[in-house]
Amino acid sequence: MNKVNQICCIGAGYVGGPTMAVIAKQCPNIKVTVVDINQKRIDQWNADDLDNLPIYEPGLKEIIAETRDRNLFFSTNVDKAIEDAEMIFISVNTPTKTYGKGKGQASDLKYIELCARNIAKVAKTDKIVVEKSTLPVRTAEAIKSILDNTGNGVQFEILSNPEFLAEGTAVEDLLAADRVLIGGQETPSGQAAKDTLSWVYEHWLPKERVLQTNVWSSELSKLVANAFLAQRVSSINSISALCEKTDANVAEVSRAIGFDSRIGSKFLNSSVGFGGSCFQKDILNLVYIAKSFGLNEVADYWEQVIIMNDYQKRRFAENIISTLYNTVSGKKIALYGWAFKKDTNDTRESAAIYVADLLLEEQAEIIVYDPKVKEDTIYNDLDYLNSRDPKENRRLLKVVNDPMEAANDAHAIAILTEWDEFKTLDWNKIYSEMLKPAFVFDGRRILEREKMDEIGFKFYRIGES
Ligand code: UDX
Ligand code: ADP
Repeated sequence: MNKVNQICCIGAGYVGGPTMAVIAKQCPNIKVTVVDINQKRIDQWNADDLDNLPIYEPGLKEIIAETRDRNLFFSTNVDKAIEDAEMIFISVNTPTKTYGKGKGQASDLKYIELCARNIAKVAKTDKIVVEKSTLPVRTAEAIKSILDNTGNGVQFEILSNPEFLAEGTAVEDLLAADRVLIGGQETPSGQAAKDTLSWVYEHWLPKERVLQTNVWSSELSKLVANAFLAQRVSSINSISALCEKTDANVAEVSRAIGFDSRIGSKFLNSSVGFGGSCFQKDILNLVYIAKSFGLNEVADYWEQVIIMNDYQKRRFAENIISTLYNTVSGKKIALYGWAFKKDTNDTRESAAIYVADLLLEEQAEIIVYDPKVKEDTIYNDLDYLNSRDPKENRRLLKVVNDPMEAANDAHAIAILTEWDEFKTLDWNKIYSEMLKPAFVFDGRRILEREKMDEIGFKFYRIGES
């Protein structure tokens, strides 16, 4: 088995950044260079101020402090990093296509293809190329074909090594991974490449947690893992709607079924809907693949997970409108949380975007407070939906840095992200700032009903009548 001395990672985002930081920490003998075409992002990774890294993850800044300029480097010199490395990770973004065939479902592979062409052009020695980004099945085959047909005659071995880290717990997930999946060709050189990547992970993970498979199994497993997790959230959310119509309480139902060891307790928290860069995209990919093979029942089965999620977001917003006497026009509504979950500044596919959009359609005045998300991001998220003129978004929605300011003269507060700090806010003071009756809609089920009732709030939360 061959060892590697130098690794390069193309893409310094939510996946590439934390993953390479942890590899550098655990493998001081390997030089790790993370490259990106976005100069600003690289500058932020290299800045002295570790509180302003482009990505917020608990525990990340400590690792960057330890490894940066020791064996972890950030650069925009993509070609040099490719040339020097024996192993190249591709962690560029693969957004859902917004145009052409597969629009709204298939992943846009243009960034991946550009990367592959660049590697082929620059590489002068044999390379192991590792696909890390979430990709539809059979991407490795496409990458291989580009590399083999446009390269300089050097050997490329393609591995699929899907990422299972969850944002907000990325460092922990990487350091104590349940499993690492490595897919590769079933040839002697494919086996050697798989063993080399296994060797990297075995610096800190027990051998039995590093699973080797063929390429297609590895690619598909990533989609299936996320589809199963998202399905659990949609399943419990479908029951939350039923609970709201009856005297059942979704938390009690969730607890009762979670105790069944065959079901298990994780991923059964009812919420305003799942978000994030993976769940929806991966399911849509699964749906698209199934359809392209004529498996319509399979496609419909998985698509329902997304339909349920959209319903949950809409249901939450519609409940706010109907509870506020069927009109929110001109009413101030404070949104606490914009990130798709706590402990991350990532907002991709966050439920907050859709809830805000629906309320803005009804001409509500929105005030957003999120401890980690910047104003620019919030406006970009809304503008991206194209529902109304960007000027209108800025007129109707404001972003503030203080939860008290957000509450001032508000008719209602909606909790959209489960940030810990929301639990310990001075809710008595918030109550005194708000117009009466003061409504709180808890889309994350983080506040205690008794306490909220006692203060005087009209308190609603997902999954309770
Ligand atoms: C997910 C997978 O967990 C990870 O393995 C994969 O690599 C990438 O996709 P991530 O998107 O970071 O990770 O977040 P995750 O913790 O899975 O949460 C996804 C969404 O589901 C969030 O919006 C979260 O708030 C929501 N969720 C999760 C619920 O609403 N209820 C739950 O019980 C769990
Ligand atoms: P993810 O969650 O998959 O990590 P991000 O959007 O956070 O996605 O990160 C992807 C990064 O990949 C971005 O910083 C983007 O600038 C970078 N990127 C995209 N295409 C290329 C490319 N051809 N070469 C280098 N970096 C790229």
